[in-house]
Amino acid sequence: MVDEIRTPCDLILFGALGDLAQRKLFPALYQLERAGLLDASSRILALARKQASADDMRGQLTDLLRQRLPESDIDEAVLDSFVQKLDYQYLDFSDPDGFAALTEWRQGRDANLIVYMATPPSMYGYIARNLRDAGCCTDSTRVVVEKPIGHDLESSRVINDQLAEVFSEQQLYRIDHYLGKETVQNLIALRFANNLFASQWDQNHISHVEITVAESVGIEGRWGYFDRAGQVRDMVQNHLLQLLCLIAMDPPSDLSADSIRDEKVKVLKALRPITPDLMATHLVRGQYTAGTSNGQPVPGYLDEEDAVANSTTETFVALKAEIDNWRWSGVPFYIRTGKRLPEKLSQIVIHFKPAPHYIFDSDQKHLANNKLIIRLQPDEGMSLNILTKDQGLDKGMRLRQGPLELTFSEAFGNDRIPDAYERLLWEVMKGNQYLFVRRDEVEFAWRWVDQVIRNWQDYGSHPKRYAAGTWGPVASVAMITRDGRSWYEDV
Ligand code: BG6
Repeated sequence: MVDEIRTPCDLILFGALGDLAQRKLFPALYQLERAGLLDASSRILALARKQASADDMRGQLTDLLRQRLPESDIDEAVLDSFVQKLDYQYLDFSDPDGFAALTEWRQGRDANLIVYMATPPSMYGYIARNLRDAGCCTDSTRVVVEKPIGHDLESSRVINDQLAEVFSEQQLYRIDHYLGKETVQNLIALRFANNLFASQWDQNHISHVEITVAESVGIEGRWGYFDRAGQVRDMVQNHLLQLLCLIAMDPPSDLSADSIRDEKVKVLKALRPITPDLMATHLVRGQYTAGTSNGQPVPGYLDEEDAVANSTTETFVALKAEIDNWRWSGVPFYIRTGKRLPEKLSQIVIHFKPAPHYIFDSDQKHLANNKLIIRLQPDEGMSLNILTKDQGLDKGMRLRQGPLELTFSEAFGNDRIPDAYERLLWEVMKGNQYLFVRRDEVEFAWRWVDQVIRNWQDYGSHPKRYAAGTWGPVASVAMITRDGRSWYEDV
């Protein structure tokens, strides 16, 4: 099976010394080699603005992988064959002359060419034009780009236009790494392979949905970038809206990239704007102050390294999204995400409506909702809270809520779950775009996010403070309790 789909490829990696390449891409490529998924003749050309020889870089890469990967994942023979695939060149990405060397590197090769731009998006346009002018790419070259694609609709169009000048949409692989997470893909299997859920997945049966993406880390040395973005642009515009789309979309007619992406776009188009009159009830922004993280004291956002004292950027957001279509009318999607929350946790909770007529003890009525909890990370798995009779002669028909539990590591063995980037790189090599974001998805997501941001600016919204290590401002709890509900772990 592997042999059938493993094809030789040449990967040109721009930004090879950057954080993304070092933390994610090289370890992921190594894991592909270890899994036997890189063809023996595949090559990697690393590019950066540092004078160094290919041998130096191979040495550095070996050290990097030894540091980054668990010892049990290091296989000396694999490490050696992987590192031998690496070549390195100095390149100033904005200098057209240097690109001739890339064309030379490709001379005589017919392996698929993949270009990975692990650079700031401001470089995409230069790189694309220089590649074209150097005659380095063909119509079958695949190009991978990272978020952020702009900071609003207009700037995202500029970047997308620059890419479109040189590459067709079929050549572009826009990464949202959440789509590469194993459990996120499982949403598609869960929804469309189980008729049990398919028939229950609408406003007749679901009362509301919660999506939580919590992180315990703070800004991690990238205050300047983060402060210009904020949590809505950094997390909601991409990762959380992608999760919302996968939960809310209609069944695609097949698993092809366009069928799935067409359905996601319909959801984005149907998102109701959060207009100024809804600001007070539908949106909470927060910013963390000093507190604790994993038992250690940590500074507030405004006291982090490089911080600007009066920043009003949000590090937390909770919002109530509504989808104006037949399936989801009246079903709120409560979304929250933040930095410096008590734990790292990404979880979706589907709350089903109670049965139409209740016949058990009235004091247990609050138990009467089934919930499907989908844990994306950590402890990937699913749990369906169902009601059963409490055991024992003396219990009569007392109800008990218990989970039907599926923890992937227990159910399917302790096989390591591949990192999102392994999956995504592998899909690019296979030429499969279904886990990548199409231009119109990016733009419709920005359209919705832009109006949220514009409206909170007009409304004069200021972030509310929350202590690091807590679940965000109390206003986020108030937002959901106002509707007679609570965040899942608060129950
Ligand atoms: C990135 C954001 O896209 O996702 C970061 O820019 C965030 O701010 C990260 O920390 C979270 O990803 P994960 O995979 O750790 O949940």
